[in-house]
Amino acid sequence: MLAYVTTNPGKVREAVDYLGDDVAQLDFDYAEIQSADLGPIAARGAREAYRHADGPVLVDDAGLFVDALEGFPGPYSSYVEETVGIERVQTLVAAEDEHRAAFRCVLAYCDGEGFDASPDPIDRADRTEAAATGPDDGSSAELPVKLFEGVVRGRIVEPRGDGGFGYDPIFEHNGKTMAEMTTEEKNAVSHRGRALAKFAEWYPERSDAE
Ligand code: IMP
Repeated sequence: MLAYVTTNPGKVREAVDYLGDDVAQLDFDYAEIQSADLGPIAARGAREAYRHADGPVLVDDAGLFVDALEGFPGPYSSYVEETVGIERVQTLVAAEDEHRAAFRCVLAYCDGEGFDASPDPIDRADRTEAAATGPDDGSSAELPVKLFEGVVRGRIVEPRGDGGFGYDPIFEHNGKTMAEMTTEEKNAVSHRGRALAKFAEWYPERSDAE
């Protein structure tokens, strides 16, 4: 059984829809380090979650990156959703000439073992990340983590739709907001769907080898 690490049931719905019943939510709130990139945040979270779960984990870190706001709110998307709210983010973007944005998702997989060389990025907690993450407790800083990334581009619009979660009502892709899509429709085009597709292609070999 693979633990999908998130406190967000919306993400789990999408993951189960993609990966099937071999995945279960692990409601574990790992410490989020500060970084401009999602990769190191997810990698660090995967190491912490692996220590906690003592089994294979997949951490999902995602965010909204608005072109006109130099990528804001990016890694701070969750904090901004809770404090500012998505309606005010939309108002902020509406005042700009450019409304394009991207959703990004990084899935970080850790099962305590190493990985063969592959085109997908592997985070080995190198010096750069160690500097970014600050002191670790030393117990698993060297645990390898494999990263799977997905991106979808769209534009910020006035809120529409009741589905999805988070920023979905203000993110339009191909004429529909993500909140106007079914889970299947969203997965077919979304940042998470794209990252999950890469993971789902790689994972069977890994789980067979266990
Ligand atoms: P986190 O990855 O759980 O930290 O999520 C970061 C923020 O982005 C939260 O405010 C989420 O609601 C939001 N978010 C993550 N994925 C999505 C998505 O697929 N649609 C809309 N908002 C999302």
